[in-house]
Amino acid sequence: MKLPLPPARSLGNKLALVFFAVIAVAFAVIFLVVVPQLQTNLEKQRVTELRRVVPVFTSNFQSVLTSKTPDQQRDDFVRSVGDSADADVTVFQQPPDLWVTYNSRVSPEVSASRELAALAYRTGHIQARVERVNARRTAQAAVPIKREGQKRASYVVVYARDLADVRDAVALIRNRLLIAGAIALLIALIGSYAVAWALARRVRRLEAAAKQVAAGNFIEPLPEDSEDELGQLTRTFNEMQVQLARVDSARREFIANASHELRTPIFSLGGFVELLQDEELDEDTRNEFLWLMREQVERLQKLAVSLLDLSRIDAGSLELNPEDVDLSELAREVAGEFTPAVSSHNTRLQLNLPESDVEAICDRERVAQIMRILLDNALRHTPEGTRVTVSADRSNGTAQVTVADTGPGVTGADRVFERFFTGDAARGSGLGLAIARELADRMSGNIELRSQPGRTAFTLALPAADRNGSA
Ligand SMILES: Nc1ncnc2c1ncn2[C@@H]1O[C@H](COP(=O)(O)OP(=O)(O)OP(=O)(O)O)[C@@H](O)[C@H]1O
Ligand SMILES: [Mg+2]
Repeated sequence: MKLPLPPARSLGNKLALVFFAVIAVAFAVIFLVVVPQLQTNLEKQRVTELRRVVPVFTSNFQSVLTSKTPDQQRDDFVRSVGDSADADVTVFQQPPDLWVTYNSRVSPEVSASRELAALAYRTGHIQARVERVNARRTAQAAVPIKREGQKRASYVVVYARDLADVRDAVALIRNRLLIAGAIALLIALIGSYAVAWALARRVRRLEAAAKQVAAGNFIEPLPEDSEDELGQLTRTFNEMQVQLARVDSARREFIANASHELRTPIFSLGGFVELLQDEELDEDTRNEFLWLMREQVERLQKLAVSLLDLSRIDAGSLELNPEDVDLSELAREVAGEFTPAVSSHNTRLQLNLPESDVEAICDRERVAQIMRILLDNALRHTPEGTRVTVSADRSNGTAQVTVADTGPGVTGADRVFERFFTGDAARGSGLGLAIARELADRMSGNIELRSQPGRTAFTLALPAADRNGSA
């Protein structure tokens, strides 16, 4: 049963939130920083324009204001300047109070800034800036007018232009931005949910597949339809499934083989026990049966030990104690154990073992086990009388032991290291060489087989111990 995700944690919500935040921050910056800056720049530009225009009228003002021109004419003059400068023109008379004398506007409402006029009067220079008058922003320029020969100005002419057009342009931009922002947020919302939905669908497909595999059902490989991270995850999942299937079938095969190997001697023992229950059995037959039973029990014991070794190797719980081991000495020891087997094989074991210098870093017991496996094979899978040689030497940083025989050679040489592979009629369980190779592997060594009719040689190579080292 699939529980719905809490809303805040769904992929779609997270994505939508991130998109939303990014777009909102971007628009806020445009709104709060860029647009006001634009407005300021436009206004400054207007002030500069006005300042460039006003000096044109200064000399005319000088002559009109400082001569005895009638008031009506002065009014007309101020109005005409207002028209040609496209500004409200106001003339202030000299202080104390900076009285307004003339105004180009028809309505008496004065928009000229008294402060600016006062500033121009005080400094004696043109002053221009943005002024807020009657809640409107205006560009204003104040020009002091002096009588000939006087130091101080007698009048200040203030030109004022409404900045409504700037305000309108900025308001329009703000409006458009709002609409664009709303649309962008909507697209982000729809887009992020669409992307999240598509991603979530693919993730759910993987999740369902993983659950199937966890329940032990191997399914068809998922379609690998994209190159993105999820596509890679899908590919890895498919590979994992193939691996798991391989491991699973290897496990089944192993169990099937192991039970088969166990069943044969157990049935055989059961049969002998029944035969022995026959009271009329003579002593010789009974002894022969007991001898055969002993053989089966030995076979079972060997098999149990081999299976245990393999399961330890597979589980990684095989403990190794690496030390410097003299391979010559060890080979001599192990060969000694085989004296009875060698004599019943009607042959001679030849040892080519140098007195010293063949030292390897390895686990002594495990190397002895590998040697036993190789010697056992050389005696068991060859006809009676076949000569067996054990030799040891060093080569290319490795210490080697070779067990060779003059038998007919190995059949199925490429498969002898597989588990449960037996290539001839000798009743082995086919685990010896598989274990030997795994053990060699664990000790950073390897086993090589060179085989042809008349000479079969298994060589175990192990990392050599340093001659000048502790050994
Ligand atoms: N020296 C050899 N000469 C010829 N054939 C060999 C020799 N050594 C191994 N083989 C072949 O390789 C096969 C696999 O050997 P391996 O030691 O793994 O199993 P096994 O000897 O049959 O059984 P186990 O050793 O588990 O009792 C043998 O069945 C045999 O056919
Ligand atoms: Mg063997």
